Amino acid sequence: MLSAKFLVALLAAPGAFGATNWIVPGAAWYDTAGKKIDAHGGGIVKRGNTFYWLGQSVSNNIAPQMYSSTDLLNWENLGVQASITQLWRPKYAKPNGEYWIFGQQDRYADSLVSSSLVGGYTQHAKVYLPPSSYSYSDTGMFYDDSTETWYLLTSADHNVVQVNAINSDGSVGTRASHSQSSAGAYEAPGMFKAGGVYFLIVSGKTGWRANPNKVFTASSINGPWSGGSDIAPENENTYNSQNTFELTVSGSQATTYIYMGDEWDSSGGASSNYTWLPMSVNTGAKTVTLQYYSMWKVDPNTGVVSTPSSSAKYPASVASVSGRAAISTRSIVSLSPGDEITFSNVTATGGTQWVKLLYDVRNREDGEVHLFVNNEPKATNIAALNSRAGYALEVPVALKLNEGSENTVTLSATGREGFAVQVKGIEVVEN
Ligand SMILES: *[C@@H]1O[C@H](CO)[C@@H](O)[C@H](O)[C@H]1NC(C)=O
Ligand SMILES: *[C@@H]1O[C@H](CO)[C@@H](O)[C@H](O)[C@H]1NC(C)=O
Repeated sequence: MLSAKFLVALLAAPGAFGATNWIVPGAAWYDTAGKKIDAHGGGIVKRGNTFYWLGQSVSNNIAPQMYSSTDLLNWENLGVQASITQLWRPKYAKPNGEYWIFGQQDRYADSLVSSSLVGGYTQHAKVYLPPSSYSYSDTGMFYDDSTETWYLLTSADHNVVQVNAINSDGSVGTRASHSQSSAGAYEAPGMFKAGGVYFLIVSGKTGWRANPNKVFTASSINGPWSGGSDIAPENENTYNSQNTFELTVSGSQATTYIYMGDEWDSSGGASSNYTWLPMSVNTGAKTVTLQYYSMWKVDPNTGVVSTPSSSAKYPASVASVSGRAAISTRSIVSLSPGDEITFSNVTATGGTQWVKLLYDVRNREDGEVHLFVNNEPKATNIAALNSRAGYALEVPVALKLNEGSENTVTLSATGREGFAVQVKGIEVVEN
């Protein structure tokens, strides 16, 4: 578990960055008021140049909460949208002149309606799913622009994911299609369309624990669905996240498909984070692969994805090491329990700055990595980041550094024999 010290040192002061410049999968994400964004199991719609992110708010007893942004980075909290609680995975739809929210309550779909996009939603109806008034557990939403139809995606309790058109009066229409029950039990459905192919992304049913999410494809919304291949390396469990929605950003230069995942804590609570990643989509082979970046963003106008450059790089070869640690020929320092590595004369602009720790761990579960910055009296345990170390061999942490070139950053390893931390270096990311 993370110590209080970890929170102080790594999260720095909320909003300490001022503007948010990067999407950092799995890290805490703050809104424009400096509060952690609280919109889990959500989805996004774009109106004009503005994106609206609607999700379930843990701090408001699972009420639907909305945020808005024009850059997909800096989100303003527009507040709770209806006086309803325990409405899970709320998703927005607009099948007619009114504005709708569909979510799951008591294992049925509930619909809310408002005359405006933001605020004023009131309960409309408990929704029973054709063909047999199925109950279900999760809500997804897909808008098919070729037919201007909204589709409610649900994972029914009899273990199929099904797709139902939403009628113009807001009721749920006949079943368009459903996944084969033989393909396994799935939940958390999301969908997007590329090159005439419908891509349905689903999660396995493992509670709050992450699993390898899968993709199914069809050439028609009416199915049949085939596939079931992983969207990320199987052992990474979708980078420790679960699908909630797929967002298409159509820019002037590129179309970027974004996987929106939730990184749940052990109970879907307040320390859950978000993992958003661009997807590499092959419409011929009908595959989807998450493109893992530890920090990235997409330009909503051009659709182009970019990653930050580093203002200063400190390879392990310039660091001092203690204990048994030795620099191998590949300039990687391998820390065994008890060893540490110190980077001196690290230059920063002062205040909070992202620093990428370039490392990997062997036997993840067997040890902890601790981090000391400057003359902090106590180390902070960053063991919770061990799994992220493996994804791209880099983990961004938000550090409070002094202005100038005299910062020191130390990493140490503790744990059982066999635990090893392979450190390549650190990089200070441009603000
Ligand atoms: C979310 O991020 C914060 C800050 O890094 C961290 O303390 C917390 O453990 C993360 N939650 C999960 C579920 O990983
Ligand atoms: C840090 O910089 C100072 C001043 O340039 C230098 O004297 C010192 O040797 C450097 N320390 C390390 C560990 O490189």
